[in-house]
Amino acid sequence: MDNVLILAIESSCDETSASVVKNGREVLSNIIASQIETHKLFGGVVPEIASRQHILAIDSVVSQALEQAKVTFDDITAIAVTYGPGLVGALLVGLSHAKALAFALGKPLIPVHHIEGHIAANYIQDISWQPPFVCLVVSGGHTHLVYIRDYDDFEILGRTRDDAAGEAYDKVARVLDLPYPGGPRIDKLSDEGDPFAIDFPRVTLESDTYDFSFSGLKSAVLNYMNKAKMKDEPVNNADVAASFQQAVVEVLVQKAIKACKAYGSDKLALAGGVSANRHLRAAMQAACDENGIKMCVPAPVLCTDNAAMIGSAGYYEYIKGKRADMSLNAYPGLKLGERV
Ligand code: KG4
Ligand code: ZN
Repeated sequence: MDNVLILAIESSCDETSASVVKNGREVLSNIIASQIETHKLFGGVVPEIASRQHILAIDSVVSQALEQAKVTFDDITAIAVTYGPGLVGALLVGLSHAKALAFALGKPLIPVHHIEGHIAANYIQDISWQPPFVCLVVSGGHTHLVYIRDYDDFEILGRTRDDAAGEAYDKVARVLDLPYPGGPRIDKLSDEGDPFAIDFPRVTLESDTYDFSFSGLKSAVLNYMNKAKMKDEPVNNADVAASFQQAVVEVLVQKAIKACKAYGSDKLALAGGVSANRHLRAAMQAACDENGIKMCVPAPVLCTDNAAMIGSAGYYEYIKGKRADMSLNAYPGLKLGERV
């Protein structure tokens, strides 16, 4: 097969991104227009504003992606786009743009699942990384342990029963008066704190489950802060951040390693925004080393939302013959492994 150049578009949340990816593994460009500064004013993503910002940015982001890749629309083999899960209005902007381009250029349209994109970031990070492997997906909206049997064959081993890991980070950050998005702030503040100062709960649920629960931990942090306030006791925010982070990371590491052992996998990948977390990366690497497991974790820019990961996942869909027509819609609640 000739070189396959995928133009990928991602707009599921608060990043407008376009990328050109060659043969699923080589990133020729990855333009990301972040809306964080706008949403920061509101303490979180405002869906209506996100959609409007995507509309303003998308055309120029796509042009920049082509320019940086030094290609034109003629060189592109297919257009890949995130069609779910995510904010419906935000998804529709990228989707409409991708559909218009595919129609006008007469190129195939490839629908990509956002979480499958996060997982595919590992194929860009390590060009020799291949299924099968276990992947821990930890983002703002999702926490999943997945067994990836093949590029398009996923088995969900466990998922969060309440808050996603990133959501817990963001909510705890709010209590600590840190701006949105809280994950990177807690990551940083934790450097100055003692991770064992406060004994927050490690919720592992039943012994035979790979599911997660973070709402109890979040409540424990809230209670700790409220109690201190009521008693007028001083709080060391860095200790709270570091101790919260320690509790999250311990559970993530324990479950991920257990899944690798149960599935006989000597390979573990991380994916999603929270996998940019330095403490998680270091703790998981140490546990993998101890257990003879090879770990792959994308560079931080590939952990958070970006279109390059969509271009990689889109390539594997493309070579398997996956195509969408102009009736493709956005699916805000699309499940992992679900095909629409
Ligand atoms: O994957 P992502 O960009 O968007 C979703 O698909 O949800 O993930 C965003 C989440 C946010 O909750 C953010 O706080 C968290 O990832 N995050 C982090 C770090 N960087 C981003 N959490 C902990 N430590 C970080 N360094
Ligand atoms: Zn994401």
